[in-house]
Amino acid sequence: MKILITGGSGFIGQRLCASLVEKGHTPLVVSRSSERARRVLPEPAIVRTRVADFEEDAPEAVINLAGEPIAEGRWTDKKKKAIRDSRINITRDVVDLCAKLDEPPSVLISASAVGYYGDQGSRDVTEETIPNDEFAHQICSEWEAEACKAEQAGVRVAILRIGLVLDAGGGMLAKVVPPFKMGLGGKLGDGKQYMPWIHREDIVNMILFLLERENLSGPFNASAPNPVTNAEFTRALGRALNRPTVLPAPALALKLAFGEMSRLLLTGAKMLPERMQQEGFEFHHARLDEALNAIFGKQ
Ligand SMILES: NC(=O)c1ccc[n+]([C@@H]2O[C@H](COP(=O)([O-])OP(=O)(O)OC[C@H]3O[C@@H](n4cnc5c(N)ncnc54)[C@H](OP(=O)(O)O)[C@@H]3O)[C@@H](O)[C@H]2O)c1
Repeated sequence: MKILITGGSGFIGQRLCASLVEKGHTPLVVSRSSERARRVLPEPAIVRTRVADFEEDAPEAVINLAGEPIAEGRWTDKKKKAIRDSRINITRDVVDLCAKLDEPPSVLISASAVGYYGDQGSRDVTEETIPNDEFAHQICSEWEAEACKAEQAGVRVAILRIGLVLDAGGGMLAKVVPPFKMGLGGKLGDGKQYMPWIHREDIVNMILFLLERENLSGPFNASAPNPVTNAEFTRALGRALNRPTVLPAPALALKLAFGEMSRLLLTGAKMLPERMQQEGFEFHHARLDEALNAIFGKQ
């Protein structure tokens, strides 16, 4: 199949493109920097700068991953606008393409995030949970609603509310492993906030699962079945790296350093992949210790 992927050059996208190519698909990748994207993508991938550039190629499926990084720096008004606009505008371009094509793609799999639910304390969070209204929720909600407009063109739409994606070479581990290796790791605030996580291999497998399962649509929580608190995550990472984790980062210091963005670090949701499990999706990495050992090459 010809599969259009926005954000295909990113942390999830690179691994996804490699898996799609292995399965005989052709990735059509939208990237602001074709040259950089070509360097990190497998040979058969075709890279262009705009969604509309693929009108002639009529993709048979679309995977929508593009978006300005959310966990970098303070959420100034400018940064908030970039977080929102980068997601909404490209999703709108995807919906417009679907509406234009005589034969629209059969499916749109569109990223969202655990942030959809906002701060949920320690209650179990399924796809049915009522979200807490805050910035992350508003962005995700608007992003999901924009993607769902593709249904008007007869496209099946599946939404992935993604937890923290773990693997070597990028994502949150690339940021936290260096200080942990220096023995500077520690819980954030009181450490009770939940951090739903997923191994990169499993998020890619979920996308492949949704591509194939023609009866599946709507929102899916995309995280491993055993979410952990920040304190548990900190201890597990310390064990995986054989490093102490005794230096907590006080909540006040994080609030002063990061402003509103510190909510990403200090609040969370105990998100459970209820619908994925009901549909029989099998996780390769269901437990955090095992996932981290696999990532850091320990058995
Ligand atoms: N990784 C996680 O832990 C995680 C967790 C929850 C949700 N998600 C969501 O899942 C999606 C994919 O995640 P990822 O980790 O693969 O993201 P990523 O590595 O940051 O890649 C996203 C891609 O989006 C494009 N992009 C970045 N800023 C942009 C902007 N201002 N305007 C247009 N395009 C822009 C970039 O492609 P080009 O530079 O090639 O244009 C980039 O490769 C993201 O939307 C993210 O919010 C990720």
